[in-house]
Amino acid sequence: MTQKPRSNDERIVQIDERRPFRLYIRMEFTAIILAAGKGTRMRSSLAKPLHKVGGHPMLGWSIDAATAAGAKRIVTVLSPGSESIQSWLNGAPFAIQEQQLGTGNAVAAARDAVKTDDGIAVVMFADTPLVTAESIASLAHAIEDGASLAVAAFEAADPSGYGRVVRDDKGNITGIVEDRDASSKQRTICLCNGGIMAARTPLLFDLLASITNDNAKQEYYLTDIIGMATDAGHEVTYSLIEEAEILGVNDRADLAKAEAELQDRLRTAAMQSGVTLIAPETVFLSADAVIEPDVIIEPHVIIGKGCHIGEGTIIRAFSHLEGTRLGSCCIIGPYARLRPGTEGGDGVKIGNFVEVKKTSLGAGAKANHLTYLGDASIGAEANVGAGTITCNYDGFGKHETLIGEGAFIGSNTALVAPVSIGARAIIGAGSTITRDVAADSIAVERANTSERAGAAKSFRQSRLDNSRQKS
Ligand code: UD1
Ligand code: CA
Repeated sequence: MTQKPRSNDERIVQIDERRPFRLYIRMEFTAIILAAGKGTRMRSSLAKPLHKVGGHPMLGWSIDAATAAGAKRIVTVLSPGSESIQSWLNGAPFAIQEQQLGTGNAVAAARDAVKTDDGIAVVMFADTPLVTAESIASLAHAIEDGASLAVAAFEAADPSGYGRVVRDDKGNITGIVEDRDASSKQRTICLCNGGIMAARTPLLFDLLASITNDNAKQEYYLTDIIGMATDAGHEVTYSLIEEAEILGVNDRADLAKAEAELQDRLRTAAMQSGVTLIAPETVFLSADAVIEPDVIIEPHVIIGKGCHIGEGTIIRAFSHLEGTRLGSCCIIGPYARLRPGTEGGDGVKIGNFVEVKKTSLGAGAKANHLTYLGDASIGAEANVGAGTITCNYDGFGKHETLIGEGAFIGSNTALVAPVSIGARAIIGAGSTITRDVAADSIAVERANTSERAGAAKSFRQSRLDNSRQKS
């Protein structure tokens, strides 16, 4: 077994403490990420590596973990016709595996793109998104320490479908046998191959040159190189890794399991950094969320991509946030929907059934009930009354609404953009404002009420007389 990272090693790096990684030793290596499989079990028009976990594509998780572990070059292996993944890679190196002949064939396809004659290669899969940088680095470290090959293994609760790690009497690894090729005795083995493997680069490609497809799936298995290496007298070792980390996503049920595991990590990290989650299992966090200490998040809240929530802010139940920055001590929700481009200063209040998009609210501004604010800028301490709508869209383009500091917008106001309300101005309830209102003015746009004394009584009497005549 390989050693876990030693905490007194000078190569230990503490990465962003908000990420669900711990301390690990960075190692220089080349990562080869296999992403050419057909992914048929996903039953999706979207390529499997682009399916998201925690709001981030699975391939992105693999790349991030490899980068954080110290990869100096990352080559992704793709199938022909994987344009969607290529454009997502945005110029990062990739290799094409012409035919999907198995994981061993896929690694071999990366040979030219790897561009290194020596050094360490780490093979990873694009369908194991929860692998940590720490585990990757520990495998690379085993090679640095003298092993020829190192494999990540885990004790599976249910090993079916996984490759089994076969050991001799002394506990040394002698090979990996795939589920379909395993004897009934080997199928009882619970120690499984997690799908990450490190090796000296030349040895990896040398061994791959002689694998065959003489097996149940008629595929070139990467895992065959383990037995070949031990037979040739090379030192092969394995690191034991938590099953949750190595979970492979083959179908949508696996995807949901990976999401659940990641959410668990993100919630734990948030709570450890001082965030209160009243019912953690009901809160969903994007992996990039930055949530400052003493934030309280009530049940059933979704924090989507690109959110930063300032200290002491309360997110009440059933709120949905995306692309939102909030200062400290804000009160949001219940039932608030904050869409991308929402920026709230300190002490902002956004209440129930309020939708906000591309709008900034200055410190202390309030929009407490039943309101839509889109493409707007709202000054500090302004009060936006219930039922206010910024009419930002005319069917062709979007237009801005400006509300000055300390302005008071009466209930049920329609602000027809582009329009500007000056600082401290007051808008009477029920107004439809179609032109700019100066600072300190009162503007009311409301038809006069006509009242006819006693008319209700005579109206009722006439209806009653009518219905009597009919019966
Ligand atoms: C593989 C391992 C198995 C391990 C399991 C862990 C092999 C032969 N088996 O099985 O020991 O327990 O992962 O999750 O390696 N891919 C290609 N080209 C191909 C085939 C696959 O790029 O021709 C890629 C896939 O996109 C995927 C990865 O390789 O990212 C693994 O392939 P998959 O078919 O999912 O392998 P498993 O059957 O899960
Ligand atoms: Ca798999």
